[in-house]
Amino acid sequence: MATITEEKRSSEHGQWSSHFTFILAASAAAVGLGNIWKFPYLTGQNGGGLFVLIYLACVLVMGIPLMMAEITLGRCGRRNPAGTFKEIAKDNNVRTTWKWVGGLGIIAGALILSYYCVIAGWSVAYFIKAICGEFSHTNAARSESLFNELMASPWQLLLWHTVIVITTVFVIARGLEKGIERAVKYLFPSLIILLLVLIGYGITTGYFTEAFVFLFDPDFTEINTETVLIAMGQAFFSLSIANGSILMYGAYVPRNVSVTTAAIAISLTDTGIALAAGLAIFPIVFANGLSPGAGPGLIFESLPIAFGNMPFGYSLGCLFFMMLVFAAFTSTISLLEPSVAWLVETFRFKRLKATCLMGLIIWLVGLLTVLSFNKWSNIKLFGLNCFELIDYVTANIMLPVGAMLIAIFTGWIICRKFIRHELQIEDRWLFRSWRFAIRYITPILIIIVFLYAL
Ligand code: TRP
Repeated sequence: MATITEEKRSSEHGQWSSHFTFILAASAAAVGLGNIWKFPYLTGQNGGGLFVLIYLACVLVMGIPLMMAEITLGRCGRRNPAGTFKEIAKDNNVRTTWKWVGGLGIIAGALILSYYCVIAGWSVAYFIKAICGEFSHTNAARSESLFNELMASPWQLLLWHTVIVITTVFVIARGLEKGIERAVKYLFPSLIILLLVLIGYGITTGYFTEAFVFLFDPDFTEINTETVLIAMGQAFFSLSIANGSILMYGAYVPRNVSVTTAAIAISLTDTGIALAAGLAIFPIVFANGLSPGAGPGLIFESLPIAFGNMPFGYSLGCLFFMMLVFAAFTSTISLLEPSVAWLVETFRFKRLKATCLMGLIIWLVGLLTVLSFNKWSNIKLFGLNCFELIDYVTANIMLPVGAMLIAIFTGWIICRKFIRHELQIEDRWLFRSWRFAIRYITPILIIIVFLYAL
């Protein structure tokens, strides 16, 4: 049986200090704009309950098994995604062309990051608006115009985009231990508390039941393959899988961590927060006559109304947008790490140089998104502007393709004994169910969805 020797087991970039830090850091990477910004607006655009149901099913049957696979691959290879695939392929005597799966993930991550930084920038802008008291007594019309004003100003968007890129580069350049760990330990739990407060406010609007029904009562007559594709893409996006982020975090995991427990804990936290965000936002949307299908502006148009009209709204608003920036920020870090590790390991770049180079590329590509909301809003390909196109291609094509290849690699290509040894699952049934999900369910479902949707 081929196993990687112990001395290769520790990554050159360091290691998480404990099991708990790993789960915390990976959850923080998973929880971000995907949960709070993207999940509610996609749910709104795709009709509600049915979308949520498909999303949950994808998390359960594909997301958790894939996350287990990714953490295991990462822990086993201890490198950047491309290097890990290459190394494991070698150990299993199969072609090293599998490294391109890692390569695909690295590119997807960089593309996602390019627009992610822009949206994270919106959150910074809103944090400042909150501090300046701009939400006080806001109604729907004023809140919509606040958002539209921001979108209409490329310079403002550019400024905040730049701030986010520079800060991310700074944290990544300082290395793992000092940067990421310190950043994730503190503010994360407060986000959960704030969402609960917002749900509490939602209940007082009198529209909570409506929101609940919207989110959890699927209307099966509305099913179409586009919805399924988007829900699947969102599941991968939200869990941060299929692009090597989680794999990269897995590379820093101590050997004694239970992959199963970690994957379940991370997925539950992530899904719980997405649902909580939905429950916090839709009562406000319905109570104020906003359209659930408003698109990317949904949370920015709805939340200021809540903060402008609830008790302690000023402080809670400031806190909330600070949390949002923070949650986004822990994700930007995870999105940048794979490409930086790849440059360092493949070309022997210094960490600082690699980080700055990637930062520059991402900043430049991000300009496409900045301009999509104003000057270039009419430039469209297949009916999508630049931002929508990058988002569609990454979340709905690259991530599912990556997920399928990871499943095929772990399920079919590398040897069963190898993966069994690496996963460290004692229970026979658990291992069998995991392997069934990875070998059959994941690839087949993805292929079916693709065949129908494209
Ligand atoms: N999951 C994060 C969010 O929900 C975003 C993210 C981080 C991500 N790493 C990723 C998305 C890797 C796709 C792939 O905000």
